[in-house]
Amino acid sequence: MRDEDELDRLIDKLTPEAKVRLLTGADTWRTAAEPAVELRPWVMSDGPAGVRGPSWDERHTAVLLPSATALAATWDEPLVERLGSLLALEARRKGVHVVLAPNLNLHRSPLGGRHFECLSEDPELTGRMGAALVRGVQSQGVAAAAKHYVANDSETDRLTVDVRVGERALREVYLAPFEAAVAAGVRVVMAGYNAVNGRTTTASSLLTTPLRTEWGFDGVVVSDWGAVRSTCETARAGLDLVMPGPEGAWGDALLRAVERGEVPQEAVDAKVRHLLQLGHWLGALGSMDRPPSRPRPRPAAVRALVRRAAAAGTVLLANRDVLPLDTERLATVAVIGARATRTRTQGGGSAGVFPQAEVGLLDGVRGRLRGRAEVVHVPGPALAGPPPALDGTLCTDPDSGAPGVLLRILDADGVELHAEHRFCARQLEPELPPGAHTVEIRAQLRPRETGTWTFGIAGFGRMSLRLDDRELLNGDFARETDDPALIHVMPPVRTVTAEVTAGTLPLLVARRELAPDTGRAVIVGAAPPVPDTDAALDAAARAARTSDVAIVVVGTTEDDECEGRDRVHLRLGSDQDALVRAVAAANPRTVVIVNSGGPVELPWRNEVGALLLSWFPGQEGGAALADVLFGLREPGGRLPTTWPATLADAPVTNTSPSDGRLDYTEGLHIGHRGWLRAGRTPAYWFGHGLGFTSWDYEELSGPPELTVGQSFAVRVRVRNTGPRSGREVVQVYLARPDGAVEYPRRWFAGYAAVHARAGQTVTAVVHVPAKALRHWDERAGRWRTESGPFRVLAGRSAGDVPLSLEVALRAAG
Ligand code: BGC
Repeated sequence: MRDEDELDRLIDKLTPEAKVRLLTGADTWRTAAEPAVELRPWVMSDGPAGVRGPSWDERHTAVLLPSATALAATWDEPLVERLGSLLALEARRKGVHVVLAPNLNLHRSPLGGRHFECLSEDPELTGRMGAALVRGVQSQGVAAAAKHYVANDSETDRLTVDVRVGERALREVYLAPFEAAVAAGVRVVMAGYNAVNGRTTTASSLLTTPLRTEWGFDGVVVSDWGAVRSTCETARAGLDLVMPGPEGAWGDALLRAVERGEVPQEAVDAKVRHLLQLGHWLGALGSMDRPPSRPRPRPAAVRALVRRAAAAGTVLLANRDVLPLDTERLATVAVIGARATRTRTQGGGSAGVFPQAEVGLLDGVRGRLRGRAEVVHVPGPALAGPPPALDGTLCTDPDSGAPGVLLRILDADGVELHAEHRFCARQLEPELPPGAHTVEIRAQLRPRETGTWTFGIAGFGRMSLRLDDRELLNGDFARETDDPALIHVMPPVRTVTAEVTAGTLPLLVARRELAPDTGRAVIVGAAPPVPDTDAALDAAARAARTSDVAIVVVGTTEDDECEGRDRVHLRLGSDQDALVRAVAAANPRTVVIVNSGGPVELPWRNEVGALLLSWFPGQEGGAALADVLFGLREPGGRLPTTWPATLADAPVTNTSPSDGRLDYTEGLHIGHRGWLRAGRTPAYWFGHGLGFTSWDYEELSGPPELTVGQSFAVRVRVRNTGPRSGREVVQVYLARPDGAVEYPRRWFAGYAAVHARAGQTVTAVVHVPAKALRHWDERAGRWRTESGPFRVLAGRSAGDVPLSLEVALRAAG
């Protein structure tokens, strides 16, 4: 970092106008440049599952990693760190300086719409995984951005919600992962849209204390996109950079506020200093270039790493002697479900990228069994949700005949200003030449099924949809939201149906007028006729009955798990429960793969042969799942979040503000802590996950006595009692049943993964930091640690802790 005097000299060189100009983005993703101090712009991009780069363009593909729940499910920090550095290399390839990840908000409610994008329900696990990702990203000279500071744990009314949370829960639960990210050296923190305890986070004193004063954060605080709606309040707070730009609530308004003395000049100078410091770190200041990064690994190595990560995050919830499958004993395998071909590799919203290539489960299984066994695919009932965006699998560009669509930009008289071939009809940021008035997408459909097709168009304002000479839709659709992600990335889909005959080549023409403030996005989708459900279930059962094993993939739809809205239920929908039941009744050797980012209800979970969670597994998902199914890799995952049997059982669910307020009345007790306090049993506990072997927990040993403030280690002896080598994630929880203050019934404090051969005994050493025993004293406004006895528990999940010991904690001094 440059020394303080030098930074002072640079700041002195800037006029008040120049300083203020630096504090708002130059466009959607870039910061402003300032030649007077040789500051070049830097580029930010979402994260967290891949680096999209500064445009939403399907021609600019990205490596797609498993989504955050899957990463946390690995309980493997070195692996997550490697994936972080892969993200950074992607960022370097795309000219990106700051990756807008990790998302450190918590799985407070299973209904949280961005659940898939957050790591876990637990502050400690989230902090560790988040810190690993930060270290990995930043190891290659790319900054990570910890978001969304803070308590931005659900999506309903996310721009206005005022989260009411007690000081103790705020410190111990919601701020804790950010504290861990700052300790790991994170260079950027993103302030969320929401308010906390009456103050919007972009104007909150939390941006100063604890962030800068207690934790020593010296990086840049950036606003979430469009989160800043006031000038003085936010400028006086610890926020440094308003995104996107160039318009925004600061600019000239901030300049005038400084002149009037409403915002101190020192506050502006401090922001500029943070930006210059980060510019220096990024190699965007002065004559120095970006420091070189590690060379990019070969594409095959990248794919192998992403595949390994997806297998490592796959959680085996139940196995009744079905997995792993032995290829030698299989003649026919049935792969069932629409998600077997359209495996959902990522969640929806700003995190979305255009993956290089995606391996669905069916491809993965076929790849593994080619030449060895027959693979039969039956799609089962159609999935609900909006029709998928058109692409080369369903249509061609009517101009060139190439797979894809023709994108045209028209002026007010309908005259073409620009036309280009595109691979798909999900166009979020088409280039707009001067005079642009209408975006048009033309597609020559190549239907293979006759019947009632569903067509969809997404966007705001005047839109129309024609199929040859049939007008399917024409209307004005008012924008009913201010949420930038809903306007620009996932506008609502309007659907219509029309009869289509297989073998014809109908021309679909979709148009959207570009009224001010309606965004640029237009997405056109189509879905073939929905098969009769009973017939689809019969076909699935028949295939299962005549196969040696049936693999069923079920999952959520684009409507279920997405940024910008919360879920309203946890059901699978689309007759997927009936599908599993029909298949399991036909063949006891049924393996179910759940393709979702967060919890869903699995009412048949005790009736199937084996149950795997794939999460949103990233681009190599299908190949990784095949590795697990056929025993090439052990399913490495453990649940990063407690999985309820039904939504009604979950102790914390509420995501709907009342009178604008969302009360976190459960205090410290989210996730497994809430279940333990309520005395309820979930379907699967936090930490649960099976490998292909079994383990005995034999002995726990640790110090009988400690002094307040001391970190410690415990040793857990485990024995591999099964037939194969394996990896076990040994977890440690703490409890203080006789404490003078309130504590969770028990809380997660650390873990260690061990490997052992069949029959081998190994010892896991689990380190517990001293801070695991501290609590926030609200009255004194500081951390305290109570002396007295506490218990250490060790086991395989929050609900299964067979070993325990007592430790006496002595007061210090
Ligand atoms: C999301 C952020 C994201 C930003 C930029 C916002 O709507 O909340 O997570 O980084 O958009 O895409």
